[in-house]
Amino acid sequence: MQMKPFNLIIFLVITGAILFFVPHAYASENSCIDCHRTVSPFQDIQKQFNQVRIQHLEKNVTCSLECHEDRLRQLATANYQQWSNSLHALKGVTCEICHEGDPKQAVKEKAHLGIKKPTDLESPVYYTNVPKTCGNCHSKELANFANSKHYQRLEALKLAPTCTTCHAPHTFMVLNPEEFRNFCGNCHSVYKKVAPYDVPVQAEYLLGKVNKLKFNIEITRQDIFWAKKNGTDVAAAERYADDALSIMQNLPPMWHEFNLTHFEDEIDSAGKELKKAQDIIKPAVTPTRTPAPRTPGFIFLSGIVSLLAAVYLIRRK
Ligand code: HEC
Ligand code: HEC
Ligand code: HEC
Ligand code: HEC
Ligand code: HEC
Repeated sequence: MQMKPFNLIIFLVITGAILFFVPHAYASENSCIDCHRTVSPFQDIQKQFNQVRIQHLEKNVTCSLECHEDRLRQLATANYQQWSNSLHALKGVTCEICHEGDPKQAVKEKAHLGIKKPTDLESPVYYTNVPKTCGNCHSKELANFANSKHYQRLEALKLAPTCTTCHAPHTFMVLNPEEFRNFCGNCHSVYKKVAPYDVPVQAEYLLGKVNKLKFNIEITRQDIFWAKKNGTDVAAAERYADDALSIMQNLPPMWHEFNLTHFEDEIDSAGKELKKAQDIIKPAVTPTRTPAPRTPGFIFLSGIVSLLAAVYLIRRK
C-alpha cells in the first residue's frame, strides 16, 4: 500500500525521461542534419577561402575576402537553413536522399563518402541529372517535364531550365505568378534571344487564371452546399464540380510539359465543368425574380396612334 505513490513517481520519471530523450534520439539519427545545422561558418569559410585564394593566385587573379565570403558562408550553413524551412524538411526529405553519403556516420569524412560535387557529371545534383533525382518522388512532374522542349534542350544543349532553376535549392519554393515575368524573361526575351518571347506574359496570365479557377471552384462548392440545404438536387452539380477539381489538381504536374496552349485548354475545360454545375444550382441559390411580362401593347398602341395621326393629317390636306 505504502509503495504505490513511489511507484507512480518512478513511472512518471521514466516516461518523462523517455519523452524528453526520444525526440533528441530521433534528431541525432541523421548526422547530415546534425552537423550541417551547427557547422561553424567561420572556420570553414576561412579554410575554403584560403583554398580559393591559392587557386586564384596560381592563376594570377587577386581577390579579397569580400569576393567569396558570402558564397562560402552560404555553402556552410545556408543550405541547411533554407532546407529546414522547406516542405521537404517537414516531410523528412533529408540531405542524403539527394546528395548520397552516409547519415549514420558522425565523422565528416566518413559521412561524406560517396558525395560528389554538384559540378561532377556523375553527381545526382549535377543539373542535367536533377530531373531524375527529383523524379524519384515527383514522378508526374518528371513524366510531363520529359515531354517538354526544356527537357530536350537540357539533354541536348544543356541550355535550359532544370527543376532547381525554377525551384531554388534548398528552399524548393514555387514561384508566384507575379514573379514569373522576370524569371522566365531571364531566357525568353528579345535580348536573350530564346523564343517564344511572349512566354513571360503568357505564364503570368495563365497562372493567374489557375488561381481564378481555384477561387471559382471554392465558390461553386459553397453554392452547392447552400443549394443542398435549400433542398435542390445537387448530385449532378457535385459531379461537374468534382470533374473541375480533378482537372485543376492535375494542372501543376501538367504545367511541366511547358505547352502553354494545352495548359490553357485544360483550364478552360475545367471552367466549362464549373459552368455546368453553376447552371444547375444558381437559380436555387439566388432566386432571381422572373422578369415581369413585357407590357403587351406599348409598341402596338403607339403604332395605332401614329397611324391615326397620319390618316388625320392626310384628311386635313
Ligand atoms: C561532422 C560534420 C558533417 C557531417 C556529419 C556532414 N557534413 Fe556535409 N559538410 C560539412 C562541412 C564542414 C562542409 C563544408 C565543406 C567541407 O569542409 O568539406 C560540408 C559540405 C557538404 C557538401 C558540399 C560538398 C561540396 O564539395 O560542394 C554537401 C553536399 C554535404 N556536405 C552534404 C552532406 C550530407 C548529405 C551529409 C550526410 C550524409 C553530410 N554532409 C554530413 C560537415 C558535415
Ligand atoms: C531535394 C533534393 C535536395 C535536398 C533534400 C538537399 N539538397 Fe543540397 N543540393 C541539391 C541540389 C540540386 C544542389 C545543386 C545546386 C546547384 O546546382 O546550384 C545542391 C547543392 C548543395 C550544396 C552545394 C552548394 C553549392 O552552392 O555548391 C551543399 C553544401 C548542399 N546542397 C547541402 C545540403 C544539405 C546540408 C542538405 C540537408 C540539410 C541538403 N543539401 C539537402 C539538392 C538537395
Ligand atoms: C524523397 C522524395 C522527394 C524527393 C527526392 C524530392 N522531393 Fe520534392 N517533395 C517531396 C514531398 C513529400 C513534398 C511535400 C508535398 C507532397 O507531399 O507532395 C515535396 C514538395 C516539393 C515542392 C512543393 C513545395 C511547396 O512549398 O509547395 C517542390 C517545388 C519540390 N518538392 C521540388 C523538388 C525538387 C526540385 C526536387 C529535386 C531536386 C525534389 N523536390 C525532390 C518529396 C521529394
Ligand atoms: C521553367 C520552370 C519550372 C521547371 C523547369 C520546373 N518547374 Fe515545377 N513548377 C513550376 C511552376 C510555375 C509551378 C506552379 C504550377 C501551378 O501552380 O500550376 C511548379 C510546381 C511544382 C510542384 C508543386 C506541384 C503542386 O502540386 O503544387 C512540384 C512538386 C514541382 N513543380 C516539381 C518540379 C520538378 C520535380 C521539376 C523537374 C522535373 C520541375 N518542377 C521543373 C515551374 C517549374
Ligand atoms: C534557362 C533558360 C530558360 C528559362 C529560365 C525558361 N526557358 Fe522556356 N525555353 C528555353 C529554351 C532553350 C527553349 C527552347 C526554344 C526552342 O527550341 O526554340 C524554351 C522553350 C519554351 C517554350 C516553347 C515550348 C514549345 O513547345 O515550343 C515554352 C512555352 C517555355 N519555354 C516556357 C517557359 C516558361 C513558362 C518559363 C518560366 C517559368 C521558362 N520557359 C523559362 C529556355 C528557358
